[in-house]
Amino acid sequence: MLQAMMLFVATLVMAQANAATDAMTDAQAEKIRDRIKPIAEVCVQGDDCGGPVIAASTGPRSGEEVFNGTCTSCHTAGIAGAPKKGDVAAWDKRLSKGLAETLAVAKKGLNAMPAKGLCMDCSDDELTAAIKFMSGT
Ligand code: HEC
Repeated sequence: MLQAMMLFVATLVMAQANAATDAMTDAQAEKIRDRIKPIAEVCVQGDDCGGPVIAASTGPRSGEEVFNGTCTSCHTAGIAGAPKKGDVAAWDKRLSKGLAETLAVAKKGLNAMPAKGLCMDCSDDELTAAIKFMSGT
């Protein structure tokens, strides 16, 4: 008799559980799907990934772009004696040896100035543009 009662209760509980799932709204189901979806999906070029494909720019970066990329971290505040952007007097002194020579120094590095100003993939033209941008020449 006790066993029959327990079976009856178990069946009742299961039926209720089923009823609960049946009653799940679309919104709830959507939430669950959202929670168990993969963290990331790989999207390769050529696939329609639901958004515009941002192609990497192939042209040379402007002086401002290069400056904002790496140079700014030292040349805005003048870290470790770096000539500040827009400090014409400081830059005139540096550039008095000529733009080509100044570029050569920037490529090699000087004291706390790292080689290429940490823009390792910068071309000579891009570094020159950044120097011109900083010095206002
Ligand atoms: C980690 C800090 C740092 C970064 C990043 C940095 N610089 Fe410098 N830079 C310096 C310092 C410090 C000096 C002054 C060095 C000295 O005279 O002792 C300097 C000096 C220079 C000079 C003058 C060289 C000369 O002939 O006297 C040029 C040109 C220059 N930096 C270009 C750049 C460019 C272009 C970038 C970005 C692509 C850049 N720097 C990024 C720290 C930095």
